[in-house]
Amino acid sequence: MEEKYSYEKIQEMADNIKSRTSQRPKLGIICGSGLGGLADLLTNSEEMEYTSIPGFPVSTVKGHGGKLVFGKLEGVECICMKGRFHFYEGYPIWKCAAPVQVMKLLGVKGLIVTNAAGGISSKLKLGDLMLITDHINLPGVTGNNPLRGPNDERFGPRFPSTNAVYSKSFQNIFKKSAEDQGLLPIIKEGTYLMSSGPTYESPAELNWFKTIGADAVGMSTVPETVVASWCGMVVLGISLITNICILDVESTEEPTAEEVYETAKMRSKNLQNIVRLTEKSAVEQ
Ligand code: 6GU
Repeated sequence: MEEKYSYEKIQEMADNIKSRTSQRPKLGIICGSGLGGLADLLTNSEEMEYTSIPGFPVSTVKGHGGKLVFGKLEGVECICMKGRFHFYEGYPIWKCAAPVQVMKLLGVKGLIVTNAAGGISSKLKLGDLMLITDHINLPGVTGNNPLRGPNDERFGPRFPSTNAVYSKSFQNIFKKSAEDQGLLPIIKEGTYLMSSGPTYESPAELNWFKTIGADAVGMSTVPETVVASWCGMVVLGISLITNICILDVESTEEPTAEEVYETAKMRSKNLQNIVRLTEKSAVEQ
């Protein structure tokens, strides 16, 4: 089994990055499937391919660029991950979240995590933006927690709580920003369940997820969020509902990756505008 990155290994990656840019980001943004456009918001941008950072994991999925983008958003220095690491690609779960530890050592204080997700709750409509208020770490509770293994207290405690992972004030700013753009009707709130993928879920699995309180389901976000919270970052999580889950086994409909990308493309600009305004209000506060 591959060993988790040590503090020193993460430090090396952070030092490599710091030696190549003078930017010192305070906010991290992780772009979900089809949401890489968030990186285009940044001005004075500088890019760094993942492959150019010794030791950094490398992305493989279509629609994910595989680079860090540095730049300013409403006066705040940001680091944007264009392309993330999914458990289903075969990485150990801790590796999916390791870039967040690198961000931490770069001085990042807050993280905006986005994803494409399937809507389970009947309250969710195609194209809605669901503020993640809580999560079900299904891989985590069944043995694939990103914090499993040796703990380095310089990042965070051995037994971190996960009660207030998603910042209420960050959510309120996001909601206000959406309202200012007339987008409040598409803003929802709910619990995100991480499923390992790469299969989309069977109707029986989806019905199970519904009974345990999941509103939306996806294949990412939770590892990064858990690690961000563990090392003291403030987190905002947003799921774009790219497809409505089929809970009826008699239905002939089925989810497709194309549908997911199409919906993401349709809402990408809306999400970008809200994130920009969120950032602006956060700065003004
Ligand atoms: Cl329906 N399931 C999962 N696991 N991930 C998704 C999805 C569904 N739709 C978008 N991403």
